[in-house]
Amino acid sequence: MKIDRYEKIFMLLGVGILAMGLIAIAISVLHYGLHVPSPDGRIAPGDVRATSPWDEPGVYETGDGEYEVIMLAETWRFVPDEVRVPAGSEVTFRMTSPDVVHGVLIEKTAVNVMIIPGQIATVTHTFDEPGEHLFVCHEYCGTGHHLMSGRVVVE
Ligand code: CUA
Repeated sequence: MKIDRYEKIFMLLGVGILAMGLIAIAISVLHYGLHVPSPDGRIAPGDVRATSPWDEPGVYETGDGEYEVIMLAETWRFVPDEVRVPAGSEVTFRMTSPDVVHGVLIEKTAVNVMIIPGQIATVTHTFDEPGEHLFVCHEYCGTGHHLMSGRVVVE
């Protein structure tokens, strides 16, 4: 079969670009350990409120300048809806929902996650500057969706 020279170059370019893409994926997975976000664990949604630590949601100091926020996203509020931490704190949010799908977006940060019933979402952010960060539910979750908000107060 005769293949035109330019056709051959074009095919080689196509294969080469594909190979570079696969190599880039392999390097990011094997060398840098990148992976898509995955749940930290699962609880039956009906058991969430009775399961530690979500039976006692709140803000907990876990170390020097380190905090853990155990948060419930439920129809239609966040518990807790106010998080107060000193400036410079590294805050790990551990969140789940006992009812329907919610989401949380904390303004002026990269925190933006889905909160799926019974699925544990963990995300960490360091709040360097004093100030307030509004957070809202960003997944339509029913008639009270627009009421779901809270704030992180960095002191
Ligand atoms: Cu919860 Cu929208």
